Amino acid sequence: MCGIVGYVGSPVASARPLEVVIEGLRRLEYRGYDSAGVALVGPSGVLATAKKAGKLANLVEEIDAHPLPDATAAIGHTRWATHGGPTDVNAHPHVAGDLAVIHNGIVENFAVLKAQLVADGVEFASETDTEVVAHLLARAYTETGDLTTAMGRVARALEGTFTLLAVHAAVPDTVVGARHDSPLVVGLGTGENFLGSDVAAFIAHTREALELGQDQVVTITPDEVRVTDFDGVPAQARRYTVDWDAAAAEKGGFRSFMDKEIHDQPHAVADTLLGRTDVSGRLVLDEVRIEESVLRAVDKIVVVACGTAAYAGHVAKYAIEHWCRIPVEVELAHEFRYRDPVVDERTLVVAVSQSGETMDTLMAVRHAREQGAKVLAIVNTHGSTIPRESDAVLYTHAGPEIAVASTKAFLSQITAAYLLGLYLAQLRGNMYADEVARILDELRAIPDKIQQVLDRAGRVREIARWMADTQSVLFLGRHVGFPVAMEGALKLKELAYIHAEGFAAGELKHGPIALIEPGQPVFVVVPSPRGRHSLHSKVVSNIQEIRARGARTLVIAEDGDEAVRPFADEVFYVPQSPTLLAPLLAVVPLQIFACELATAKGLDVDQPRNLAKSVTVE
Ligand code: F6R
Repeated sequence: MCGIVGYVGSPVASARPLEVVIEGLRRLEYRGYDSAGVALVGPSGVLATAKKAGKLANLVEEIDAHPLPDATAAIGHTRWATHGGPTDVNAHPHVAGDLAVIHNGIVENFAVLKAQLVADGVEFASETDTEVVAHLLARAYTETGDLTTAMGRVARALEGTFTLLAVHAAVPDTVVGARHDSPLVVGLGTGENFLGSDVAAFIAHTREALELGQDQVVTITPDEVRVTDFDGVPAQARRYTVDWDAAAAEKGGFRSFMDKEIHDQPHAVADTLLGRTDVSGRLVLDEVRIEESVLRAVDKIVVVACGTAAYAGHVAKYAIEHWCRIPVEVELAHEFRYRDPVVDERTLVVAVSQSGETMDTLMAVRHAREQGAKVLAIVNTHGSTIPRESDAVLYTHAGPEIAVASTKAFLSQITAAYLLGLYLAQLRGNMYADEVARILDELRAIPDKIQQVLDRAGRVREIARWMADTQSVLFLGRHVGFPVAMEGALKLKELAYIHAEGFAAGELKHGPIALIEPGQPVFVVVPSPRGRHSLHSKVVSNIQEIRARGARTLVIAEDGDEAVRPFADEVFYVPQSPTLLAPLLAVVPLQIFACELATAKGLDVDQPRNLAKSVTVE
């Protein structure tokens, strides 16, 4: 939520600050795209800014029309509006005198701070909470004569969440940043240094990064990076090398990031499985650094997550309960924290998050740990906050997910959850080694099967294009097909702005069947007929029930399942797999359907309206 870039370079640095920052913003635009802006300082001793409502392209047009002076340092922002609508004036940066600031997060005590400033005669140009910070920082700089000290002082006075970056015309070789509950990483260059909300901001220039801790201030100059706490005491930041490069964050010939990421899924799953067995084939999750005795004693697992990640959690519930015989609850992170949940030292809380920054999930993690629970994070983004605040992390290796709607991260979250389930079953003796090995073999076969689903997607695309004018689509599934149905509906809502709902097929008769009228399209996710027979036949009966009432049935079924044909208007076959692993295949046609339909409607599938990639406010 809001993308932030900072750059400072000496004259030998290869790239010009403005270009670096605009390119960084382009890569971060998925974090928010209501408005964008930049601020530059340089040899002229003047602060220059440009900002524009709407997408980054509007800002670029504005700068082309009114070029900015040469600079040594620059900051840039792409916004997802919280306080104040998405207008030119509310766009960041916000300026006070010779100082400019950009901000990700929400300053919760801004009204009190603003009232004090107004009483002192300060005039405000915008409706944002950020402008308060600009005035406070400018004042603190005047009083201290040092931008780093000023930043620490202001950060101490703020309540809420923030990443802040500031430049001042008087120190044209410096960018200062601070973070509290919001992400900020440092990119380490030679004769130049970078700041970003995530590494995508500077991945084209360096893969060497520093992960800042909570409540730290960072000062970058061309040759130096200094990290302190808010009181100015030197602090440590963890150095790491990013394990993907700029090419991974490009479209690579696909028409959208979403399309590319859907096609990346065989790799995302394969990479998440990679390196997690020893020579004897035994599952080894070295990263799960929670004592084995604690894991053996766990008597309940609670998955906390939001949106698509929560649906991955629902799939995890079916698998982990079946394999480990531990009760698993799945809870939306924003509900968990506020309902006084029963968790203790014997509860394992599993926090699932692509970004690792979702504030609702982070707050649930903190709450769980306060109650004495151990927290294991399943996260895709290295250097993010949730892993840092958890007891252990199991990284998914989906690579950067740029499209706002999650696809490959979903599949890799499910894969990681399977690994966790099998690991616990192995550790606690619920399964024999050969059973675990057999399921791991089945999992290793999944990437090729996903590829087959992708290769067969022509018909799904065709149907999606025909259905571009559809007003409402329902999705039904049972067992692990239920979260798949909910995810199919979510993809369609967020990408195509169509009313869509996912139901447990068994719930149909308890109300939703009233929605069925002639021509109503309904996707039905059918379980394998080779699994529990009764499950398959129940879903086939559900298809018959809705067909009898005029529904247009679009069925996802396993290769060889002829029983569904007589009742389906369309069948999209996916390769055979064990029932518990089937979501990794069944969801793919639904992702493609939503992406294709939205594209046919002329919508921006990478940046759907009103959304942002990482939701760093509650
Ligand atoms: C939907 C989607 C969201 C995210 C949710 C959690 O396509 O992407 O529902 O899954 O906002 O985000 P993370 O996984 O970053 O915590």
